[in-house]
Amino acid sequence: MNAEAIIATEIKPQLVEAFGRQTANSLVTQATLAYVSTDGAEEERYEAFLRSICSDARVLGVWGEELSAEKLDEWRADYAKHAARLSEISQRGEETMTAQILDGRAMAKDVRGEVIAGVNEFKEKYGFTPTIAVVRAGSDPASVSYGKMIQKSFEGAGMSFVLHTLPDTATTDDVVDVVAMLNADGDIHGIMVQEPLPRDIDGDEVKATILPSKDADGVSPINAGRLAQAAPVGRDPGVPDYIVPATPLGGLEILLRAGVEISGKRAVVVGRSNIVGRPMSFLLMQYHATVSMCHSRTQNLGEVTREADILCAAVGVAHLITADMVKPGAVVIDFGFNRLGDRWVGDVDFEAAKEVAGMITPVPGGTGSMTNVILMRNVLDAAERQMKKRQG
Ligand SMILES: NC(=O)c1ccc[n+]([C@@H]2O[C@H](COP(=O)([O-])OP(=O)(O)OC[C@H]3O[C@@H](n4cnc5c(N)ncnc54)[C@H](OP(=O)(O)O)[C@@H]3O)[C@@H](O)[C@H]2O)c1
Repeated sequence: MNAEAIIATEIKPQLVEAFGRQTANSLVTQATLAYVSTDGAEEERYEAFLRSICSDARVLGVWGEELSAEKLDEWRADYAKHAARLSEISQRGEETMTAQILDGRAMAKDVRGEVIAGVNEFKEKYGFTPTIAVVRAGSDPASVSYGKMIQKSFEGAGMSFVLHTLPDTATTDDVVDVVAMLNADGDIHGIMVQEPLPRDIDGDEVKATILPSKDADGVSPINAGRLAQAAPVGRDPGVPDYIVPATPLGGLEILLRAGVEISGKRAVVVGRSNIVGRPMSFLLMQYHATVSMCHSRTQNLGEVTREADILCAAVGVAHLITADMVKPGAVVIDFGFNRLGDRWVGDVDFEAAKEVAGMITPVPGGTGSMTNVILMRNVLDAAERQMKKRQG
């Protein structure tokens, strides 16, 4: 972990807790100026950062001189600890391993082949085409292009795609009405409401309206609740049907296809969003890992991540996870997708971390490649369950 990562993950949360977000932001901005305008090694710049904070009148006013001096020493010690770990890693030199790269694209190709075979069988058996309906309100450019990608991949696999667009002036009731119509339409097997929705629309109400059996990306509270209640993943007889969000399910698929032993292992998931981090934690727990969930208030993030045999990052901060935060030999699953300069990178510093990890997903070409094919599989599975139910 470099100085910037220590600042973001350890110092800033402590400042927010002690002084509130506004003062913390102002302290960090001021200290960052001292950091960037100091010449010399990173350690000297980090020292300038710490001094700016610990000598600030607002900090001294609340903490007093003694506590400020203690904090200064504590944060210096954090840096020394991380620097020591980095030098330990680099001294291992020749001994450092180069991780097996988990090729999400190749695995996604295999899953796609399986889905296409399943779609053909489904059509033959039931005389219907598995169909997804995508609902979009407004014209967020990323949603428009994601919608086009879904259309291309579904149609390319022999499935059907239907798009319902509403203006950005649409109300919650307007979107709920479209979803209710799709719930009742026997030709629609999966429904996905794209986010972000316009600001005034109540996304939770919309998600709660989606019929759980058609909820293509597992966002309804019923599906999320079933996952949280640890109903086994799979279609065992008598188990209530439920659908898991495609991105974390894709991450699990990568682990399973790579033959990673999950049971009994220590897993750490960084990020607790409803669509990635949280369901990933539940999935790992269902496969009997011992799971820790980390988030923006986690202190000493590196100490937790270094315990992980399986480390999953779903944060949205480029290169937050540096090589010294990875346990040697760990399996690293990176869900992050962030713009850094002119390239896309993950939440993990891939180039450095691959020298420490045992297995690691690249970005791009890792988890992102899986999401779409797992979404198709979710809809195919949902269609099959609906047809079986209809046939009694
Ligand atoms: N591979 C795919 O197909 C796919 C799909 C969806 C998303 N993504 C990518 O995955 C990443 C995460 O997406 P998301 O939708 O889950 O994001 P999100 O809703 O913004 O959640 C981010 C999570 O990271 C935590 N966090 C933020 N800063 C942190 C820090 N410094 N240290 C530790 N935790 C921190 C947040 O903590 P709090 O809860 O405390 O705020 C939150 O739980 C993004 O890069 C996104 O582009 C990829």
